Amino acid sequence: MKLTILGGGGFRVPLVYGALLGDHAEGRVTHVTLYDEDPARLHAVARVLAEQAAGVPDAPAVAVTTDLDDALRGTDFVFSAIRVGGLAGRAADERVALAEGVLGQETVGAGGIAYGLRTVPVARAVAARVAELAPQAWVINFTNPAGLVTEAMAEVLGDRVIGICDSPVGLGRRIARVLGARPDRAFVDYVGLNHLGWVSGLRVDGRDELPRLLADPALIESFEEGRLFGADWIRSLGAVPNEYLHYYYFNRETVRAYQEVAQTRGAFLHDQQARFYAEAGRPEVSAWDAWDRTRAEREATYMAENRESAGAGERAAEDLESGGYEQVALALMRAIARDERTTLILNVRGRGTLPVLDAEAVIEVPCLVDANGAHPVAVSPLPDHAVGLVSAVKAVERAVLAAAAGGSRADAVKAFALHPLVDSVGVARRLLDGYTAVHPGLAYLR
Ligand code: G6P
Ligand code: MN
Repeated sequence: MKLTILGGGGFRVPLVYGALLGDHAEGRVTHVTLYDEDPARLHAVARVLAEQAAGVPDAPAVAVTTDLDDALRGTDFVFSAIRVGGLAGRAADERVALAEGVLGQETVGAGGIAYGLRTVPVARAVAARVAELAPQAWVINFTNPAGLVTEAMAEVLGDRVIGICDSPVGLGRRIARVLGARPDRAFVDYVGLNHLGWVSGLRVDGRDELPRLLADPALIESFEEGRLFGADWIRSLGAVPNEYLHYYYFNRETVRAYQEVAQTRGAFLHDQQARFYAEAGRPEVSAWDAWDRTRAEREATYMAENRESAGAGERAAEDLESGGYEQVALALMRAIARDERTTLILNVRGRGTLPVLDAEAVIEVPCLVDANGAHPVAVSPLPDHAVGLVSAVKAVERAVLAAAAGGSRADAVKAFALHPLVDSVGVARRLLDGYTAVHPGLAYLR
């Protein structure tokens, strides 16, 4: 079984490879090809993987290439984890938005739109190459904004592209833990869009345990999302929101926190990663040690401004271990390759799961996965207060897709202006001007 990783020089590749190293069963991935535009990043990551593989007799063989077609030819699975414009682009997405007084997060609000406008044309082109060179392959999309990018690729690849995110998995696991339920026995009744979903129930042996959580403020504030939103607000909602909804429900506070911080998340990661790649390329250092140190720092500072503005404190030790991202990816591949049935929260076309959206709209929902792919399962309806938000944000995504397909500035302005976190068409126009001034990747908009 061959796996191709697009963005193979990316920082989280060792997580995926680590998960593969733990899989010794028949039908496992035996060959990994890393594709990246940047040979220096490929070299650094390949060094980390070599240290990881030392002493593991059946470690998957690793090849690196800067040729996309070579990477795709004959592959079984494609992981797409690319970052168009790099972390410098992410930092610019934040800066331009914050200067206009609106949120500039990687996936939410103006920043997510700018990132989507840059990424969708590239994702569509990649999907076309996959369709040509590896028509049987399954594509697992990690590239953010994950829901939007998955929908763009699905236009070409249909149900052979599946989007993943570890946020809902982490949320479900934390809720199960505080309720004393085994995460693998609990059904997380979750639905929405990527980074815009709500848990409405947690069923164990057919019984919904969530009311027990909602009734107990101390229990609510014993886990990350509970502290972020506060027990009162979660009880008012009657559901537990994905952590990214903090940017919506506490928008002023998060925008202010981002404006006041010395370095935004993208700028911090840009510097941190530059240090890592410089260090990991040097023959005398352990690339693995450099990587692991960098990873720990990244995990510990994740959403730090949000937690600080909410008074939510430090992250819990168990939330600092990784395990979400790569385990979802591995479970998905195993289910497809070996017909090992499982239920995972994924980004797929909804096919009527959410009546407020059309059948082609990609949503984030628990899916039954087997050799035939991922099939959304029935979930509780979206809470009433979430219906408007989901349809508004899907309309924004559709405007981004239209802008990218037609190269239309008018559609791009529409995307910014329709977003619930952008409060004026005037702001939307200035955002687009600001973004096109700093991003060469947006020159296609006319
Ligand atoms: C979460 C999100 C991902 C995001 C990751 C890293 O897992 O669901 O979409 O890529 O965090 O965030 P960071 O701010 O460290 O890049
Ligand atoms: Mn995510």
